[in-house]
Amino acid sequence: MKHAYRSHSIAQLGLALEGQSVLLSGWVNRVRDHGGVVFIDLRDRSGYCQVVVEADGKLGEAFDFKGTRKEALQLRAEYVVSLRGTVRARPANMVNAKMGEAGKVEVVLDQDGGAGPALTVLAAAEVPPFSIENDNASVNENTRLKYRYLDLRRPALMDNFKLRHKLLQHTRRYFDSQGFLEIETPILYKSTPEGARDYLVPSRVHPGQFFALPQSPQSLKQLLMIAGVERYCQIARCFRDEDLRADRQPEFTQIDLEASFLSRDEFLAILERFVVGLWKECLGVDLETAGYRERLAKTGLGFPCIAYDDAMRDYGSDKPDIRFGLKLTDVSKDVESCGFQVFSSIVKGGGAVIALPVRNDELTTAKLAAPTWSRKFFDGLNAIVQPQGLKGVAWARVEASGQWNSPIAKFFKPEEMQALEAKLGLKVGDHVFFGAEQAPRVQEAMGTLRLHLARELGFIKPGRSDQWEFAWILDFPLFMYDDKEGRLAAAHHPFTRPLDEDREKIFSDNVKVLKTIRAQAYDLALNGFEVAGGSMRIFDPKVQSAMFKAIGFSEEEAKKQFGFFLEALQYGTPPHGGAAFGVDRLAMLLAGADSLREVIAFPKTARAVCLMSETPSEVSPEQLAELRLQVIKTS
Ligand code: AMO
Ligand code: AMP
Repeated sequence: MKHAYRSHSIAQLGLALEGQSVLLSGWVNRVRDHGGVVFIDLRDRSGYCQVVVEADGKLGEAFDFKGTRKEALQLRAEYVVSLRGTVRARPANMVNAKMGEAGKVEVVLDQDGGAGPALTVLAAAEVPPFSIENDNASVNENTRLKYRYLDLRRPALMDNFKLRHKLLQHTRRYFDSQGFLEIETPILYKSTPEGARDYLVPSRVHPGQFFALPQSPQSLKQLLMIAGVERYCQIARCFRDEDLRADRQPEFTQIDLEASFLSRDEFLAILERFVVGLWKECLGVDLETAGYRERLAKTGLGFPCIAYDDAMRDYGSDKPDIRFGLKLTDVSKDVESCGFQVFSSIVKGGGAVIALPVRNDELTTAKLAAPTWSRKFFDGLNAIVQPQGLKGVAWARVEASGQWNSPIAKFFKPEEMQALEAKLGLKVGDHVFFGAEQAPRVQEAMGTLRLHLARELGFIKPGRSDQWEFAWILDFPLFMYDDKEGRLAAAHHPFTRPLDEDREKIFSDNVKVLKTIRAQAYDLALNGFEVAGGSMRIFDPKVQSAMFKAIGFSEEEAKKQFGFFLEALQYGTPPHGGAAFGVDRLAMLLAGADSLREVIAFPKTARAVCLMSETPSEVSPEQLAELRLQVIKTS
């Protein structure tokens, strides 16, 4: 059949086609006039190429330049065109290496109109609000989001979606090979507790009643285990009405997984092999380093395992960035009776003082320069930790042993400073930062400071990392104390199984006992991001009821919300567990993007709106009436 629009995509061009006639279609990236010869840079999804219009070219009737400069320039950026021409090798010094094989050739527009016009304008285009060919770092993001369909034409952004596609295809292939069944679960459903607010959908048929969009398919995938599916996977859309950040969207995608009859480590090994394959497929990176293989042989898992308590102690984070050291040290005991009231009183009140030493040796090893921090820089650090509930952060530079340049030096005896230097391995010229508060707030705040300093020092650079440090974070506490609500909350979610040795404690009424229970929960951290989370689940209905009770559900509430689930648990539930990867976060890290918005085709802003379609938006009074809803306007 004769090609209507194209015989080849641009990426298919190359020296192999030299001398052949091709029909291309795409967008005009740019038209350049070189004194009679006109160059058209043509773009399609696959790449760019150069089309040459020779000086005396007689172009097709539909769009005839007549070879003159004026008319050539009628063709403007973003016009959609179809072109017929002949492939010609470019001189060696004109090869565009960035364009691969297509960069070795150009297409000379046919001169003879005999076979129909050699150039057809399929659609004209308005002048776009920003240029497509530039990388657009300077274009306001709101403008890019309003014209997202133009933004997506940018090859750099389009590449992110090609990568995301690869990620999803690899996911399907891999989990299919491991015996996971892909099963879809409903979007119109019931509230699932994942710690965020629900998005509600009013029912027209049942006025006053609502569906909730799933925060995750958590209870449904467990019901599939009860149903005997044994291994389930779904590329699942999840909805959470929570405060947004660069790594959070109200609507996001999970690789949702659940499996029966596997131990925690057997399950994690399956996830690990998925990740190793994914990095190979998407980036050609081999994660199976010598360290990986050694750990795998020893423990059955290749990524390092870090207990939650250790992660908090060393990194002040449950998703530690372990590409570099800058580890925290608890110095509470060492400063308990020092002259600085803030420290001594906080330690006496049960809090902790955490030190963050910055040793110049560590910087030299990483080929980074020693810092030359000013007073202003130190003062600015308070603003980094204050949102985390720390009043301030104290700093010191070791000028000589026992002699610090620091606002708190006057409170310390030289031998006290020397003792801290010895403990923290500080040498002359090194820095140390201190935070004092109740745990775990102080760890978290110092963890945030650690990341801030890592960026300042150059341990963390913008763009795609060339270092991929994964870690399993294990043995999370089962409960967290919710200060605002004044009660316990499930740290992961209320279906998480306690460690076997802590199981009996769940029947206790004592909050102190409950707080010591560890969970069979795990996260996968990568370079400071949580890319997956999951747990082995409770499969004993008695333990599940005790769990709901511990987090403050009355029997009646638990029955109303989860009655169907509690009932299902009684019909023969296999031991099971699962996890979910954040697709958007994986794609963001693989692409080296700094925001999830760069890997979501039509994302929401930090204020949870879509600027392109101006959603959310008001609905008609008729729609509201039909749903028996009334909007209460506040100011
Ligand atoms: P969790 O809540 O840890 O677990 O979510 C799993 C993974 O989903 C990603 N993620 C998000 N990505 C973008 N925007 C968000 N707002 C967002 N929230 C979470 C993260 C996270 O690691 N049902 C459980 C999983 C299980 O236990 O099997 C769950 O949803 O990468
Ligand atoms: P002040 O005596 O209030 O001037 O504080 C002396 C230094 O201690 C300042 O650098 C403060 O930023 C710092 N500081 C104050 N509160 C804390 C705290 N809770 N933890 C660590 N440093 C603090």
